Formats: sequence, C-alpha cells, structure tokens
Amino acid sequence: MTNAVITGWGKCTPPSVLTNHDLATFLDTSDEWIQARTGIQERRISNVAVSDMAEVAARHALACAGVDAADVDLVILATACPDTMVPSAAARLQKLLGAHQAAVLDMNAACTGFVYGLSAARSAVVAGDHQTVLLVGAEKMTWYLDWTHRDTAVLFGDGAGAVVIQPGEDAEAGIFSGALGCDYEGQDALKIPDYGTSDDRYSGPKGKFTFQFDGREIFKRAVVGMGNAAVRALEKAGIAADEIDLVVPHQANIRIIEALVNRLKLPMSKVMINIQKYGNTSAATIPIALCEAVEEGRVRPGSNILTAAFGAGLTWGSMVLRWTRRVRPVATSQAALPPCDRSGLELLSEAIGHSRRLATPG
Ligand code: ACO
Repeated sequence: MTNAVITGWGKCTPPSVLTNHDLATFLDTSDEWIQARTGIQERRISNVAVSDMAEVAARHALACAGVDAADVDLVILATACPDTMVPSAAARLQKLLGAHQAAVLDMNAACTGFVYGLSAARSAVVAGDHQTVLLVGAEKMTWYLDWTHRDTAVLFGDGAGAVVIQPGEDAEAGIFSGALGCDYEGQDALKIPDYGTSDDRYSGPKGKFTFQFDGREIFKRAVVGMGNAAVRALEKAGIAADEIDLVVPHQANIRIIEALVNRLKLPMSKVMINIQKYGNTSAATIPIALCEAVEEGRVRPGSNILTAAFGAGLTWGSMVLRWTRRVRPVATSQAALPPCDRSGLELLSEAIGHSRRLATPG
C-alpha cells in the first residue's frame, strides 16, 4: 500500500502584533489574567485576505518540498474565514499560485480543519487519486470578533500554515489513519449564527456578528473530546503514547493542552507550544506549530508525532504520523506579505470603533 508523507512545510505569520497590554488599553482585562487563563501573550493581526496569507505559507511549503505549483493536483484550504464563499478561498489560492492542474476545496471544520484536511489528504494519496496535495490552514478569526467582548477578543489571532503531502518512499514513515468526529450536543457552545444564508439579510446592523461562545462548556468538551480522539488515533496507528516523540496540539488554551498530555501521561517537554506568540489561529495553529517544530529541530528523522484538535461543531480529531528521513527543506522561498508598518492596535482601530458604536444603546 502506498503511504502518504509530509514533504514540505511553511507558515505565514502577519507582522503586526497585538499584545495583551494593547488589549488592556480598551478592554477590562489584563496581561496577568490572559496569560494565567490561556497562556497567550500576543497574537498577530492580518492586513491582508486569508488567501494571501495562505499563498505565502504555501509557497514556503512548496519550495521546502521542491515542488512546482503547477504539479499540485489537489489544494485543500482549511478555513472558517474564506475571503468569499463563491468562489472558494481554495480557488483563489489556486489562482495566486498558478496551480492550474489542481482540484480545489475549502474545508470548514473550524479549529479541527487542518486535522480533517490531513485525513482527507492522506486518503487521497493512499488511494492513488492524487500525487501532490497542498494542505493549508489559514484563518483571519479577528475579522469576526466583537472588540467589546473580553471573553473572546483576547483569544484569537490570524495566520496560516501549509504542508505538502505526497506518496512516500520510506515504508516506515507516513500519516496513519486517525480519529475524527463531531460532538453536536455541544454545538451551541460556539456559533457565529449570523454569517451564512440562514441570516436575515434584510435587517440588522451591517458588520455585526454574534460570536456565541460558552468558554467553560467548550473547555470541558475539548478536554474530553481531544483526549478520546488522541487515544483512538494512537490505537488505530498501533503506537503507544510513550512512543510519541512530539505532540503538536491545537493551540487554544495552555490548560487544555496540559489536560491532554496528562491524560496521555506524557511530559510537557514533548509538547510543541507557541500559543504565547500567536493565540488561537484556529485551523492554522497546528501547521504553524508543526513548521516551527521542524525549524527548531524538534522533529527528527522517524519522529512519531501526534496532533489533536477541537473546534466549532464541536468537531474533534487526532492524527498520528511518523516523519520521513528529511527534516531540512529542499529549497527556500522568499515569499512574504507586503510590508506593514502599522501595529495590531492601529490596524484594528476602525473595527474597535465599529464594535463600540454597535454596543452603544440608541
Ligand atoms: N479578562 C478578565 N476577566 C475575564 C476575561 C478577560 N479577558 N474573560 C472573562 N473574564 C472573567 C469572567 O467574566 C469571569 O468573571 P466572574 O467570575 O466575575 O463571572 C471570570 O473571568 C472567569 O471566567 P471563566 O469563563 O470561568 O474563565 P475560564 O477560566 O473558563 O477561562 C476561557 C475562559 C479562556 C475562554 C476558557 O474557558 C477557554 O479557553 N475555553 C475554550 C475556548 C476555546 O479556545 N475555544 C476554541 C474553539 S474556537 C474555534 O473552533 C473557531
């Protein structure tokens, strides 16, 4: 049987930073509270569209794999923040890259999108239907936020990460089948009900989204859901938890990550954590963290890696993979976002004012 392996990795983290201290200038919150309850110190704010971040991450991943965009035959863009619904953000990304041979699809499983995408990409390669899959997680969650709501405004950031998945030559390495699912009983804990065709498009204030969010409920269900998913994925892969060299979890809350590794009886030293720098970038957290783990030398030839995530739905998922022999890029790309000299706070000033006006009675 053909196996599927990751041959390229890349990321795009927008340059403009929004710190906890910046948030405390307009919200009743503090750096101390945010760090203690979430582990986040700062996050990035994008001044470009999701597909532009996706393009930069993708160009790095393609160069890393030594693959030309023209040879990509499937683009999966995991996002809950498409530039447009029609056409899909993946179609826009395909055009930006010139990946003219590719089939394209957006994958919306919220924060679990990359893990769902990894499963789909693996299946496509193992079945022999596709030879070179570009899988990108790219999100601009800050676009949805109500900047008068401290419970959600402090959690999210923008960014993109990408991998290239191809048939593997090393029989030992590969992406193993994982465990995916959705806890619909928890669906109301996380919703943006007024973005989509169920919205009443003829009334209501323009640009107002209800970010329906019950943090405590999501937290409880995430701990159980991610833990169960990881246990099932390990069982299916035939790998014991203590054989895992690196856990690359969804970065939503450091306490959720701690609960996951406690359940697996693994030390925190085996976990890749970068939530302090980027916050929750939804489907982009795992590919960004994976990319940084390789760059930092934490992924070695043959490393056993566990990913696990949860998100709106409430989707959950976990995949186990064994890395190939190559941990260095074949080549590098100079791709970068256009320069931006505005801080995160400056970029958001209009959105913050808009949220405040909508929150003011009358
Ligand atoms: N600053 C200061 N105080 C705050 C803030 C803030 N930013 N936010 C809430 N508080 C207050 C609350 O009002 C509450 O005050 P009270 O006790 O007087 O009522 C107190 O802090 C405790 O609030 P809790 O909600 O109980 O705090 P908790 O420890 O549960 O942490 C958090 C909240 C961080 C949201 C946590 O529940 C969490 O991370 N949940 C998971 C959410 C998540 O990451 N979801 C990701 C999925 S997103 C996707 O799929 C797109």
